[in-house]
Amino acid sequence: MSADDQKKRSAERALDFIEEGMKLGLGTGSTAEHLVRLLAEKVANGLNVVCVPTSDRTAALAEELGIPLTTLSDTPHLDITIDGADEFDAQLRLVKGGGGALLREKIVATASDRMIVITDASKQVETLGAFPFPIEVIPFGCRTTEEKIKRVAADFGCTGAIERRADEYGEPFLTDSENFIYDCKFGAIPDPDGLEKALNLIPGVVDNGFFIGIASVAIVGTDDGTHLVEPK
Ligand code: 5RP
Repeated sequence: MSADDQKKRSAERALDFIEEGMKLGLGTGSTAEHLVRLLAEKVANGLNVVCVPTSDRTAALAEELGIPLTTLSDTPHLDITIDGADEFDAQLRLVKGGGGALLREKIVATASDRMIVITDASKQVETLGAFPFPIEVIPFGCRTTEEKIKRVAADFGCTGAIERRADEYGEPFLTDSENFIYDCKFGAIPDPDGLEKALNLIPGVVDNGFFIGIASVAIVGTDDGTHLVEPK
C-alpha cells in the first residue's frame, strides 16, 4: 500500500469524529485534501457542517466541492480541526508547515476544541527534526532575522543549514500572509519545547512549525488499517 493510500485511510477514519452541525477547521496538504474530498461527499448526502479552511488552496478546493465555508471572524470557535503533519513524536508534538500554511493552521487548530492529526505511518518519528523545520518570517529585515534564528538555534544545539524556501520559478516562496518560510535542516532537535519558545521571541519571526500541546489525537493510516496515537 502506498503512503497516499495510508493517508486516505486515515482521512476516512477521521470522518467518524465529525457530527451533524459541527464547525470544523480544514487542514492543508495531500492528506487534508483526501479529507476535504470525503467530507464533500458527506455534505452532498445531507451532512450539515460549516468549515474554516487553513489556506487559500484548501478554500478553493472546498468551495469547488460545495462545502459550506465560514471565517474565524464570523465563527471564532470551532469544534474540531483535522489536519496533516510532516512529523510527530510519541508526545504528539508535531512539525508542520511543509505546505507553507503553518500560521493559519496553528490559528485555526488553536481556535478548536480538538485538533485531529491525519497521517501515513512514515510521519511518526523518535526525535523531531528529520524533516526540514519551517519558520515563517516577515520579509522586512529578513536577513537580520535569519542571523538571529541561527544564533538562537545554535543555543539549542541545532546548527544545520537554514534556507529561504523558493517556489517552482526560483522566486522566494510567499505564504498566504505574504511572508517567507525558512527551512532549517537541523537534524535531531534535542529540546523542541525550549526552541519553540525562543524562536517566537525573535522580532520578525511570525511563528514556527512546532505544534506542541495542541493535537489531541493522531489517526495513523497503515497497511493493516488505522491506529490512534494520543499524547503520552
Ligand atoms: C502544510 C502542512 C501539512 O499538513 C504537512 O505538510 C503534511 O502534508 P501532507 O499531508 O501532504 O503529507 O503542515 O503546511
